[in-house]
Amino acid sequence: MDIEKILKELTTEEKASLCSGHDFWHTKAVERLGIPSVMMCDGPHGLRKQKGEGDHLGINESIETVCYPSASALASSFDRDVLSELGTALGKECQAEQVGMLLGPGVNIKRSPLCGRNFEYFSEDPYLSGELAASYVSSLQKQGVSACVKHFAANNQETRRMSGSSEVDERTLHEIYLPAFETVVKKGKTRSVMCAYNALNGVFASENQFLLTDVLREKWNYQGMVVTDWGAVKDRVKGLLAGLDLEMPGGPGVQDRKIVEAVKNGDLKEEVLDKAVRNILTMVRDSMDNQKADAVVDREQCADLSALLAEKCAVLLKNQGVLPISKEKKVVFIGEFAKTPRYQGAGSSHIHVAHAVGACEAAAGLGIEVTFAQGYRICEDDDTKQLREEAVKAAREAETAVIFAGLPDSYESEGGDRENLAMPENQNLLISAVAEAQPNTVVVLHGGSCMELPWIEQVAAVLCVHLGGHQVGRASARLLYGEANPGGKLAETWPLKLEDNPSYLNFPGEEGVVQYREGIFIGYRYYDKKKMDVLFPFGYGLSYTDFRYEELKLDKCRMEDTEELTVSCRITNTGRYPGSEAVQLYVRDAGCTAIRPVRELKGFEKVALEPGESREVFFTLDKRAFASYDIGLHDWYVESGTFFIEVGASSRDIRLSGEVKVTGTLEKPVYYTKQSTVGELMKTDRGRAFIEQMMNRGQDGGGEAAKAENVKNMGEGSDKIVESMMMEMPLQSIVTFGRMTEGQLDDLLRMLNADFKGRDDETNRKV
Ligand code: BGC
Repeated sequence: MDIEKILKELTTEEKASLCSGHDFWHTKAVERLGIPSVMMCDGPHGLRKQKGEGDHLGINESIETVCYPSASALASSFDRDVLSELGTALGKECQAEQVGMLLGPGVNIKRSPLCGRNFEYFSEDPYLSGELAASYVSSLQKQGVSACVKHFAANNQETRRMSGSSEVDERTLHEIYLPAFETVVKKGKTRSVMCAYNALNGVFASENQFLLTDVLREKWNYQGMVVTDWGAVKDRVKGLLAGLDLEMPGGPGVQDRKIVEAVKNGDLKEEVLDKAVRNILTMVRDSMDNQKADAVVDREQCADLSALLAEKCAVLLKNQGVLPISKEKKVVFIGEFAKTPRYQGAGSSHIHVAHAVGACEAAAGLGIEVTFAQGYRICEDDDTKQLREEAVKAAREAETAVIFAGLPDSYESEGGDRENLAMPENQNLLISAVAEAQPNTVVVLHGGSCMELPWIEQVAAVLCVHLGGHQVGRASARLLYGEANPGGKLAETWPLKLEDNPSYLNFPGEEGVVQYREGIFIGYRYYDKKKMDVLFPFGYGLSYTDFRYEELKLDKCRMEDTEELTVSCRITNTGRYPGSEAVQLYVRDAGCTAIRPVRELKGFEKVALEPGESREVFFTLDKRAFASYDIGLHDWYVESGTFFIEVGASSRDIRLSGEVKVTGTLEKPVYYTKQSTVGELMKTDRGRAFIEQMMNRGQDGGGEAAKAENVKNMGEGSDKIVESMMMEMPLQSIVTFGRMTEGQLDDLLRMLNADFKGRDDETNRKV
């Protein structure tokens, strides 16, 4: 396809019409110019290809296929290879099904555990989300299929999901809510971005110039296509002007006509329309050029992969020696999820499978005999008490009881937020009752986000299998019986209670407006700063084996922020089982003046080790690992100083620590005013010289010495108090106290601001 030639031959009407879909899932074709139509489908953790009537709610039929673990599970793998394997498998399947673009991954940050769509998102941490999503995207696109990272941006709740506004300050946006998208754009090279339904700071994402042009195209140099979320267009022409390309799904053409009108009456330059068409055609060309006509999909192999990935994502939350279970033991499996597990969330990502494998069936497949007790039903009914009693009896007669529990579909879903973190009461009662009767009680948890576990002290072990895809039962059985070893770590903090969460006071907002008042302090960034106890920290997860961390090496102890730092350490499997460890690297800014989290994740590597085996793990840190976002510079800024490099098994289990002195090479311009303080002035050479000179001028032969004596007599620490009062004094007060004239102050400010390069926006000023 020669896009420039085609652009010349298209009429304005044709161009406008190419800017919206043909139907629910296809772009438009223009046969006379050889422009084909591309099919897009939801993902992201499977292929939701609809052959009949389309919908974006997961209601109508889609093809029968494989459901993989959802994003919240995948993130717990802390393993780029897991995402890469999934991307490759889905890419191949898309090829076999003639799908050119897969609508995913979703990289919105888990601001609140209540967000109904958290199961579709990776983490509370932007670095982890971005790295994993980029790996998925690169692998998917290597198969010739376009990815579509979504929902750009600040789409972190379902309440008023299509019309609300997320109010987020500039620093928080850049440090928390944008970086995952940035990584998928820059490292994953995604070919498309889906804009969110919601508004950001009062401007709908589908017409937000700041997001779609200033950040995406200008800051990140994005060259791909921007598509709306399904039905997100508000004002089509404003959207085009802001940088939006394709509107989905296709409609009756009303919006296309508005585009043509706007071109004709001069409200929209034809070049702007051309730009959008160029971006759409580039996606169409890239998707079609790479189509493999002979691709086939082996769904049995895919199902095996799904089981394997589910295994790699599971997190062992507690284990008092009861796991793994010996195959000789008399075991009862309890609960509906043992037969019909919850394995995915509802909504647009819903995958149609023929049959989901439960742990009972999977245990039988491994040749293991277990008994079964119903224990509870998802839809609570009158026989709950009776089911509970039967389960307690069965648990007493067995040597180990495994309860398969968690959140039912109705508790979390696209389209609505959760009300609390509670599990169904009938399940909580069941777990307590069984644990009382049977000391070897294990709970296998299913769900897309964190839960409150009121019975945690009573049970011997907890294994979280998340929403693990339709083969989750196979993974559960293998993990329970030690055929596989859990190696996942939590990608989000589990708080003790919902009220501890930093977004609690401002979620989901009022009258469609949600203020992100907690700023950059979300997830572990908040809990660590506040030194709060949590149920399970970010990055936490146990194993059947143990790992030793040693030999931390930093390839330099001093560096400029333009250089890279290589960090390595040695990990050894010191236990009896083969296992894998997610080694995490956090950076702690020791003495910064900026308000920053205690530590932030800046590296992770997953290592698989046989018992006794040992391996060196490497990390590379660049400027971003040390920087915070400066609203004066509108850029990333490294404050010179000492940084601690912490390597550990979780955010609260740091095993090794080293130091590096980093010099920031970017100077932060400061604009001085009459309200700048003496203390601020003292930070610059020129300012310090001036203050010292002024103090000397003030010396009146013995008067100063007498004052110093008086200060001493005021008692212990008084000189410090006086100094601090002095440092906090605004420059204007020096005039008020008669140490300087107004004219001298004006001269001083002129001299101090001489180098200020004249960006006079408010954020650079000191009031
Ligand atoms: C969802 C998207 C999805 C689209 C198409 C929307 O409702 O927010 O994530 O890709 O529908 O089904």
